[in-house]
Amino acid sequence: MNPTFRKKLLWLHTWSGLTVGLLVVFLALTGAGFVLRPHLEDLVYGNLHLVPKCEAPQPLDKLAAIAKAAHPQGKLHSIEFTAENTSSVAVMFTDKDYVFIDPCQGKVLGVQNQYGGFFGLMDWLHRFRFFTDLKLGRTVAGWANTAFLVLLIGGGIALWWPRNRQALKTALKFNARLPGSARTLSLHKVVGVYTALVLVLITVTALPIGFEPVKELLYSATGYVPPKKPLSKAAPEGTAPQSMEAFWQKTRAAAPEWDWVSLRYPPKSDASYEAEILEKDRPHELAKGHYYMDAFSGETLKQDGYLTDQQIGRKIYLYCIVLHAGMVWGLPYQLLLLACALGVGVQAYSGFSPYLRRTFRKSVKPRLELKLVKKTVEADGICSFEFADLKGEALPMFSAGAHVDVYLPSGLVRQYSLCNDPSETHRYQICVLRHAASRGGSQAMHELLLEGDTVSLGLPKNHFPLESGAKHSVLIAGGIGITPLLSMAHQLSSKGADFTLHYCARSRQRSPFLDAIANSKFSDRVVFHFSDDPNSKKFDVSKDLRQFSPESHLYVCGPVRFMEATLAGAHQQGWPEGNLHREYFSGVQSDSTSNVAFDIKLASSGRIVHVSKESTVMAALAACGVEIASSCSEGVCGTCLTRVLGGEVDHRDRFLTAQERAAQDRFTPCCSRARGSMLVLDI
Ligand code: FES
Repeated sequence: MNPTFRKKLLWLHTWSGLTVGLLVVFLALTGAGFVLRPHLEDLVYGNLHLVPKCEAPQPLDKLAAIAKAAHPQGKLHSIEFTAENTSSVAVMFTDKDYVFIDPCQGKVLGVQNQYGGFFGLMDWLHRFRFFTDLKLGRTVAGWANTAFLVLLIGGGIALWWPRNRQALKTALKFNARLPGSARTLSLHKVVGVYTALVLVLITVTALPIGFEPVKELLYSATGYVPPKKPLSKAAPEGTAPQSMEAFWQKTRAAAPEWDWVSLRYPPKSDASYEAEILEKDRPHELAKGHYYMDAFSGETLKQDGYLTDQQIGRKIYLYCIVLHAGMVWGLPYQLLLLACALGVGVQAYSGFSPYLRRTFRKSVKPRLELKLVKKTVEADGICSFEFADLKGEALPMFSAGAHVDVYLPSGLVRQYSLCNDPSETHRYQICVLRHAASRGGSQAMHELLLEGDTVSLGLPKNHFPLESGAKHSVLIAGGIGITPLLSMAHQLSSKGADFTLHYCARSRQRSPFLDAIANSKFSDRVVFHFSDDPNSKKFDVSKDLRQFSPESHLYVCGPVRFMEATLAGAHQQGWPEGNLHREYFSGVQSDSTSNVAFDIKLASSGRIVHVSKESTVMAALAACGVEIASSCSEGVCGTCLTRVLGGEVDHRDRFLTAQERAAQDRFTPCCSRARGSMLVLDI
């Protein structure tokens, strides 16, 4: 898609979402509130709707008189009942109050308005009945629907449309490992695409319901003219109208196969009795037949059945209503509507929240000032660091696999995995190996930080989370790679989950946390593999990773060669990529001599930024005043992940999976480059 056009679509999508989004969520949630009404109403309001078996009901006129006595201020409108002999009879008044009566005992069970009770209230809200002008209420709902259609098709689906087949695969799957807003947007797109078809159906079918002109257009296009109701013939003065019971007996004779009936009193002196009948073989719940009787002579004036007499225009209109409201295809379709309507709530949250985060980002405190309360030598060249709040207050929660940015006194920022139990809120613990070839980070941690120091830490972020649905987890640590996996072991153990932790290291002397593991609740789940110990079992990928099941997930962290050998072995044993999770400590050392210069185009402004052979995309953008959030700066953490709209990426990170790289729709500007002369970025 042309980037300028895409930008306009994005603008349309964002602003239609921000302006009519709340109205759309209101419609969706109130609709969800009563879509299961036919199944739940008898459960919730059984005291009004259900009666002991009744084989010989009292005459309808007697029941109507009882109802009138219970609701003296009302004017009789109609009487409704079903063929079930355990259902009450509902006498409706013109103020839309129903009086429910036991048809055998003539006992009043209660009074409820058409829009009373939970389901009635949802219906009332959904139809905008709180507008005194009902037509206006329908029109407002109609416009909200139309805006949603624009939001959905005009923006959402077009923006979502993947660039290639690989991108299609990733676009259909929620990616929990993406950082921050990217993860929320992944949820937004995935929920959107799976609910789109049904939401389009609900929205399109609402058009003739909300807009009278659309309905009229439908009727005139199909040549449908609403029939006039027959009138009663004038009767000599003083002639009493026929009884409701007599009308019912004639209706019954005319339509013997019925499930539900509504018998309407003549609204005016010259009107006829009118019956609406749901017959047994109806295609949906609005497929009603009609029967009219002269109010005085009792003569049949007209009878039409839905299947035989209704014209196509009317049938289409009725199908719009039943498809919109779930009055067809029973419970499966109603559950589908419910899920999609609730999906609109998820869409609203996942669409609003990245926008709000972006807008109010500056007001969020990005760093924590903490005290280094304990520094412990855990093994040769390895120290652990425990940080606590300066006032002893609880720290923000984190989940297993999370890391924090540590802002060192030297000005460097380094990322370290949290290794303590995520249920602890009094401390953050990290563990750092002093690298021989340190670029200053681990050296500064070991040499400059002292107990009692105040240190700035970023809020915990997690790009290496546990899969919530895993039945069994295999954690594989190589040396200092134990840090995130130790936190995972704590979390899995407290949940009582099934897991094994393989702890591989050269020697005990170089292995941190051996005592802590020996004293932990999960010590029996840990298998140690020490290279210098002939009695120690060697870690053997072909044996230790043999037992794969689709619900098993593998997590590996450690030196690059160790991780790559483990992952390659897991692939050989049949583990699919989706079940393998990894966290690298360092990026790829790429050879920059082969770098070529290229250009970046910013889709939002069309601006071109040149990236020289020596520079990174991130640095070139920063030099032009375009800041991208970053953390590791070497393609490990995923913080800088940016959407690509055009051009081919030369991926040089360790964050994206092979499948995600092939999709060519995101890249890490801190280290990755272009294969061609230009990349178009969604910024
Ligand atoms: S900043 Fe970490 S991947 Fe780019």
